[in-house]
Amino acid sequence: MANKSKFQAIRGTRDLLPSETGLWNRVEQTAHAVFGTFGFGEIRLPAFEETELFAKAIGAETDIISKEMFSWQESGTIIETDLQQAWMLKHKQGFEAASREYVFNSRQRPDLVVREGDHTLVVEFKRRTINQATIENIQQYRRVFGERFPDEKSPRLLLVFAEEPSEFVRKLAGSNGVEIEVLDIPEYEQHESLSLRPEATASVCRAYIEHGMAQLPQPVKLYYMGPMFRRERPQKGRYRQFYQIGAEVLGGSDAPAIDAEVIEMVMTFFDRLGLTGAELDINSIGHNAPDCRPAYVQKLKAELEKVKDKLGADSQRRIETNPLRVLDSKLEHEQAIIATLPRIADHLCDECKAHYAAVKRQLELRGVFFKENWRLVRGLDYYMRTTFEITAKGLGSQNAVCGGGRYDGLVELLGGPPTKGIGFAIGEDRLILSLQESGKGAAPQGRDVYIAWMGERAYATAVRAAKDLRTAGFRVELPPTELKFGKALERADKLGSRFALILGDNEVAEGSWTLKTLADGTQQKFTEPELLEFLRSRKSLSS
Ligand code: HAM
Repeated sequence: MANKSKFQAIRGTRDLLPSETGLWNRVEQTAHAVFGTFGFGEIRLPAFEETELFAKAIGAETDIISKEMFSWQESGTIIETDLQQAWMLKHKQGFEAASREYVFNSRQRPDLVVREGDHTLVVEFKRRTINQATIENIQQYRRVFGERFPDEKSPRLLLVFAEEPSEFVRKLAGSNGVEIEVLDIPEYEQHESLSLRPEATASVCRAYIEHGMAQLPQPVKLYYMGPMFRRERPQKGRYRQFYQIGAEVLGGSDAPAIDAEVIEMVMTFFDRLGLTGAELDINSIGHNAPDCRPAYVQKLKAELEKVKDKLGADSQRRIETNPLRVLDSKLEHEQAIIATLPRIADHLCDECKAHYAAVKRQLELRGVFFKENWRLVRGLDYYMRTTFEITAKGLGSQNAVCGGGRYDGLVELLGGPPTKGIGFAIGEDRLILSLQESGKGAAPQGRDVYIAWMGERAYATAVRAAKDLRTAGFRVELPPTELKFGKALERADKLGSRFALILGDNEVAEGSWTLKTLADGTQQKFTEPELLEFLRSRKSLSS
């Protein structure tokens, strides 16, 4: 127990330490570089949004929305008006009878609003930060009320909440003669529920609308990177806080070349990182017109009903909620059944069929290898036509390293102009895992130069040398206190240094510095300019 830290990172979250962040940075820098060459600009988005945005975009019945979101109720400004309206409705007579309605002190205390109505002092709580001081505050209002309107009898004190306050608040209020009323505001949850983002496509579309990006030259090509949050069961490659690198193309065109170029960009990025064994699966899930996907889904549903008894509980439920998702099942005993189901490619409308064929041609033109996978339906509702997924090696069951697809109409669904869209998101954690597993993870570690200084005079020179070497881009370790020579070399070795620069009073006096190559123990003497020259030549050899 003595050594055990009391706090630990929450299950499903983790710290990324310097031994790993070198690789994370390399991956992210490569993304900036490669996406830049395809004309994409970076967008940085908030980590949380209205729950409704995600629910509308991703679909209320999806796993992400129905069970994986980190959501909370925000008691914000809307509560003030909602509470006020609800209270006024409930106590219509009382409020109308009272001519004096005013907001009390609300600038200093924006979390509470005091109103006066029919011998009642109503205190509305927008937040639940209530304590002894708050109660005293309220009693003070009662005194002020009494002074202002001396002919009134002492008013009732009523606290109005938008949701059930804690036991503590109830007790505190009760023992101070304050009544509590909880008002049920039907729209409250919808307005004020916020969620950590489980993905970023919805946010990109929200931003596209909010900033009028439809006015910009089309298409608008954006990419993002950052943490996403899903309450999933943690396992290898699956976290509750994970990181995505994603890109979206929004605009007026759904030309198949756009789909192909977006996919080409991901594959180029993986290639640049040296990721081996990445496999691209593609599919088309048609569009939402009577002669296309809905007709297929009906047919699929009818077939699924026939084999319902042989399916697991999840698939049985999905026959009702989202039959397409049954195709996604990984359950061993369902595989043979699924293989016999009708395939969407045979039921696409003519337009979707032509679009899919053109996407495949465009991919071939770009030399992008792919495999068609009719069961690739994706777990978010906004997709139509092209869907794709990329798997990587060394990841076990969570081997999808990238997922994406076309989502024409999503911007419109969220209140924007009719807009076509396509994009993808890479699971950065999984990408990194795969790179590490294949031995591509080694990021430069350690130091280039460890300065072993001895003596006060040498120290001043060492400080200057450290500055010059760092300016020249070398990773330098300058020990803060003097160490015995042997000890200094031991430290240099432990830090993974390539060279030790030995600076004693003699070296400084002679202007001739000793550089020891730690791998083989050889030593050479240099003047200061020679040293820089030598290190530069070595750096270019090693990188
Ligand atoms: P998604 O398939 O839900 O799509 O996620 C994309 C990738 O994020 C997955 O392939 C996986 O690598 C990674 N990922 C998802 N959940 C986790 C997790 N719990 N732990 C670790 N990695 C995870 C989307 O998010 C869409 N927004 C992609 C998109 C963009 N479609 C169009 N534009």
